[in-house]
Amino acid sequence: MTVFVSVTMSLDGFVAPGSLGELMGRQWQELQQWVFPQRFFRENLHLGEGGEEGRDDEILRETYERTGASVMGKRMFDAGERMWPEEAPFHTPVFVVTHERREPWERPGGTTFHFVNDGVEAALNRAREAAGDRDVRIAGGGATIVEHLNAGLVDELAIALSPVLFGAGVRLFEGVDASRIALEQTRVEHSARVTHLSYAVRRR
Ligand SMILES: NC(=O)c1ccc[n+]([C@@H]2O[C@H](COP(=O)([O-])OP(=O)(O)OC[C@H]3O[C@@H](n4cnc5c(N)ncnc54)[C@H](OP(=O)(O)O)[C@@H]3O)[C@@H](O)[C@H]2O)c1
Repeated sequence: MTVFVSVTMSLDGFVAPGSLGELMGRQWQELQQWVFPQRFFRENLHLGEGGEEGRDDEILRETYERTGASVMGKRMFDAGERMWPEEAPFHTPVFVVTHERREPWERPGGTTFHFVNDGVEAALNRAREAAGDRDVRIAGGGATIVEHLNAGLVDELAIALSPVLFGAGVRLFEGVDASRIALEQTRVEHSARVTHLSYAVRRR
């Protein structure tokens, strides 16, 4: 069982624009431009037949198929609650780390959001149990990923580096404890749209 992060990052280190208004807007579209034309993305969101089938598509599919459960922060959930269709695109249990108390929220298609109030380690333990023999994805956003990194809970980090500059926004590595974390590069691949960087995460 592996705990992994897989996110899209701007060349200057951001995973989301600063304002919620921009989240559905141009910056988000440009950041994620490598995802939207892919066959897997279209299939998973029932957007219709067709789509690209190259390495970008395979990577999206492999990431989805290895994931038995996800952990995410409340701000990612809040953004997604507005953006995801009724059939949310996870199709597994999702554990939302939050101070808010809320009953589990079951969506059609197999996604159930569970709200966890006792921190990332508790959320991750529940995700490990729920994932069976598949892996656990720390889905985002930046704050939640950094909490897991700093606690030494992440095994693998995958970044799709998107050729776009944000200038400001939600920084992926804000507050990371660099003294405790070492990265070993395990794979680099690129398509015409994006560069895929993979690292094993080690404790120093
Ligand atoms: N580019 C990508 O691939 C990608 C991937 C995922 C997400 N995103 C984006 O990232 C953005 C959100 O990132 P973010 O860094 O702002 O926020 P986040 O990590 O999604 O959420 C942070 C919030 O989660 C709750 N939380 C986190 N740790 C907690 C703990 N230990 N105990 C209790 N509550 C805890 C707190 O909310 P409360 O106190 O309100 O409960 C906290 O304010 C979104 O815009 C999303 O779209 C981008």
